[in-house]
Amino acid sequence: MSLPDAAAVLAQIAAFEAALANTASTRDAQAVRDRFLGRKNSVVASWMQMIGGASADQKREIGRLANELKQAIEERWTAYQAVAAEHERPAGSIDVTLPGREPVIGHRHPLTIVRDRLEDIFTRMGFGIVEGPEVEDDWHCFDALNMPAEHPARDMQDTLYLATPIAGDSPDDLRTLLRTHTSSMQIRYMQAHQPPIRIVVPGRVYRRDDLDLTHSPAFGQIEGLAVGEGLSLADLKGTLLAFARQMFSPTTRIRFRPSFFPYTEPSAEIDLSCWQCDGAGCALCKKTGWIELGGCGMVHPAVFEAVGYDAERYTGFAWGIGIERIAILRYRVEDIRLFYENDLRFLEQFNI
Ligand code: DAH
Repeated sequence: MSLPDAAAVLAQIAAFEAALANTASTRDAQAVRDRFLGRKNSVVASWMQMIGGASADQKREIGRLANELKQAIEERWTAYQAVAAEHERPAGSIDVTLPGREPVIGHRHPLTIVRDRLEDIFTRMGFGIVEGPEVEDDWHCFDALNMPAEHPARDMQDTLYLATPIAGDSPDDLRTLLRTHTSSMQIRYMQAHQPPIRIVVPGRVYRRDDLDLTHSPAFGQIEGLAVGEGLSLADLKGTLLAFARQMFSPTTRIRFRPSFFPYTEPSAEIDLSCWQCDGAGCALCKKTGWIELGGCGMVHPAVFEAVGYDAERYTGFAWGIGIERIAILRYRVEDIRLFYENDLRFLEQFNI
């Protein structure tokens, strides 16, 4: 290394300033300082080392230059530290110059997506949307739907009864319960309105079921009810077919399988042609070509009598479909519990 001279002092000062200006953190700045001023391996230290092998004249000159450099750098370092301390943010303050973080915008739950879609389809067909109480009395939930006390059909649904009877508006035997189906709202709505009626009732229902792959003690249904003069089974089937084609596939067909519900006569189970195999038989439809969707039928005259309608004049149709059931079929979800666990890894897949 050639011996330092006045130009070398200026060059090192310039190099120090440039390096310091380029640092992004106090730690970087400290490293730059050490590179020039540190006890070992620094620029100043290496100049000092040269003194050992130099002549007496050179010794003095190198010592002077090394000191000059050391002082110049120390001055600049002190000045730098003073400025840095001024700019240092107090703990907990906000750096408004940082770029913003994009907020995570959530989206609807898959069951809400399905419910919204159901409401869309049925409102376009002229149905109004109404909701009803989840805490019901057994008259609305059973008796008025042609299921008097002791009727074996009450056992079709495992009911969660509540201890407190509804005070005031009730005969002696009225019991409160968590509604087992949205059908109770048929009664409440007909009590308050005259035909013609076209409503759907989405909402939560409760049954004494253990939570497993396919059951939940609380789940969603969508009830449908139309009442008027001259309504027939053909209207029911046409309505459900139009719904199924919009909900599942434009080529979906439906099939009515005879069934029994105390509040409809005749009653049917609604089956959809499998949209995956179109009836040929596959895993989705368990090789039957058909997928079961829910129950339906023509409103039983006893139901009209319970709400004071003229059963000779009016006819009507009704259905009840599970909302989870639709979501399970539409999204091919294999475990109903996934809908309730609120695991974002599951929920984030339904970002529409
Ligand atoms: N309430 C029935 C259930 O929860 C579903 C149902 C069947 C509703 C037939 C109806 C109907 O309105 O007509 O299983």
